[in-house]
Amino acid sequence: MIGIFDSGVGGMTVARAIEKNLPGRRLVYFGDLARTPYGSKSARTIRKYALENSEFLLQKGAEIIVIACNSAASVASGMLRDKLPVPVFEVVTPAVRQVVSMGSRGRIGIIGTRATIKSQIYEDKIKKLRPDFQVFGQPCPLLVPLVEEGWLNKRETKMIIRRYLHSLKLKNIDTLVLGCTHYPLLKKLIQSRIGRQIRVIDSSRAIAAELAVFLQKHPNLVKILSSAGENEYYVSDVTEAAQATAERIFGRRINLQLRQGKDNA
Ligand code: DGL
Repeated sequence: MIGIFDSGVGGMTVARAIEKNLPGRRLVYFGDLARTPYGSKSARTIRKYALENSEFLLQKGAEIIVIACNSAASVASGMLRDKLPVPVFEVVTPAVRQVVSMGSRGRIGIIGTRATIKSQIYEDKIKKLRPDFQVFGQPCPLLVPLVEEGWLNKRETKMIIRRYLHSLKLKNIDTLVLGCTHYPLLKKLIQSRIGRQIRVIDSSRAIAAELAVFLQKHPNLVKILSSAGENEYYVSDVTEAAQATAERIFGRRINLQLRQGKDNA
């Protein structure tokens, strides 16, 4: 079973991409809605939550962990790889590999939460592979709440996107990374604002593609990955907005189950 966690329902963009790339594999998802957002929290707190979320997924039978939250991937992936007894994947590295593997003039924009941009994870990873590239980060803290409110095509959302992307436009970037799980839902608006000629990389799709390749190369792991049974979607709080966002992402009814634990026993 593939265990996926995020700070909320945004990581379902990753779950959906994995579902498409790996049909028939069983998924268990956990969205930490009671403690979202992670993007404005300290690295220490995000690491603590990431470990708790992973332990929950392991209890549910996860044989692989996917960190489907850029903020958690930015600050907690090393720690989780050290502590967990299963392979750990995260959304940042595959997106970085896409950035460097496709033709680029080396002017890269990254948009994400404050935690992701502050960690400079994308910049560090890109520069390790391509020291000649220039990377420009732009935190976009208002976009997550707009997605959660379902304001996907409102005038206000367009205005805020325009404001956030303005400095990246001035930097004359040729590639833009959507470094947050919620942003794929705004991809059309972002693409039209930044310009059709700019390559937009969706970190959710990048991880799904990389996981599929990894499993092809590790048939032994595929044998033990259980696939029987329904996918399960757990959250630490159930709200109507989350239910609506989940259904918007999957395009079907999703049964959000409340995780039973100390915070909601
Ligand atoms: N899932 C988070 C991310 O990708 C966005 C929401 C949050 O700030 O918790 O960074």
